[in-house]
Amino acid sequence: MDHFTLKDGIMHAEDVPLPLIAAQVETPVYVYSRATFIRHAQVFKDALSALDNPHIAFAIKANPNLAILRILAREGYGADVVSAGELDRALAAGMRPEDIVFSGVGKTPEEMAHALEKDIGQFNVESEEEGRELAIVAEVMGKTAHAALRINPDVDAGTHEKISTGKAENKFGVPFGRAKGIYMRLNGLSGLKMRGLALHIGSQLTSLDPLEAAFTKVGGLIDSIRSSGAELTHIDLGGGLGVAYRAEDDPPSPAAYGAMVARVTKGWNVRLMFEPGRVIAGNAGILLTRVIRVKPGGGNVPFVVVDAAMNDLARPAMYDAYHDFSAVEPSGKRMTAHIVGPVCETGDTFAMHRDTDHVAANDLAIFRTAGAYGATMASTYNSRSLVPEVLVDGARYAVVAERIKPAAILAAEHVPDWLD
Ligand code: LLP
Repeated sequence: MDHFTLKDGIMHAEDVPLPLIAAQVETPVYVYSRATFIRHAQVFKDALSALDNPHIAFAIKANPNLAILRILAREGYGADVVSAGELDRALAAGMRPEDIVFSGVGKTPEEMAHALEKDIGQFNVESEEEGRELAIVAEVMGKTAHAALRINPDVDAGTHEKISTGKAENKFGVPFGRAKGIYMRLNGLSGLKMRGLALHIGSQLTSLDPLEAAFTKVGGLIDSIRSSGAELTHIDLGGGLGVAYRAEDDPPSPAAYGAMVARVTKGWNVRLMFEPGRVIAGNAGILLTRVIRVKPGGGNVPFVVVDAAMNDLARPAMYDAYHDFSAVEPSGKRMTAHIVGPVCETGDTFAMHRDTDHVAANDLAIFRTAGAYGATMASTYNSRSLVPEVLVDGARYAVVAERIKPAAILAAEHVPDWLD
């Protein structure tokens, strides 16, 4: 459920008409609904209510905007971070250091030291090499790093290959068959306190089956590691729950996910941890855009050229992702169109042969389900602006990330004297 709906024929975010935001902030612009974020955060928490004290760390890569992180911090969420930059954002938003989990295959020693300095709760270590390095960094600092070993369960998540992370050929985690040996070796190192396992098999999962298969494998590994005398107190089950991009999509509900988790993890006797991203943020944001012009195509299908482009919303170009396109003031008429941005690449295509609301030059329109992996993946390709973000709360709104104009980016570039 979200709060982007038509009222008197005009698309609103909560109680704010989108034409107002377009007039005052200009387009393209991401628009988020605070009420939707809060609702999604609560629904996910409720879905895990059968568990004993679950830990929820929002995967902030999905939407690292400071105001969004503040909303989630107030909901009791921690953060799953993958860089020192994300770590600093989580702290700036008010997330508690002990609620922060540091994932990622390429943590540098500097990032490890920074995270130890801030006393974060857990490192998800992705290789034996990384674990050994972390132990040394911590020991030198006189600290103890609390860590989980990320395993690669080798299950097919059944999602787009570029967002699949739990197959043997993916770079993430340690191979399942070697996990126990690595855990036992890291377990003895001073500076490091191994406290459990972590996994994340992929994103936008539309079936619970691969998750259940992976979790079941983890259950067996827990028993096996414990039988060798090592402790496990925390298991991080990652994120991955899919959302509906099309009206007819029917991804598993958080409640169904929670029930499956409760069933599969019964008797594990650990604190379970979660790293949801998309399921919290996806449908809490839209990308508001204006039609620049409609250009006849070679066939009968016109090109609707909008002012948003692949640099603002990369998912269609990167993953052939589907984002619903709707007019802000739909006339009731329909059209079939190719929807494209102004960037000079054929890949700058949001949709081909899309049956959509009829739009004409200067009309406003939205791409839905853009709250996750939207603004955060934006670039300034083609020397375009970095897209701004707006947060709506009832009848009020605020710009929560400014548009960074090409002139500001140009000002950060330098021509060395010796070129002249
Ligand atoms: N935990 C880890 C370790 C992750 O790598 C990810 C996402 C998550 C949690 C959150 O997964 P979620 O609940 O959002 O599915 N840019 C792509 C998605 C990349 C996901 C990367 N990892 C997209 O636009 O679809």
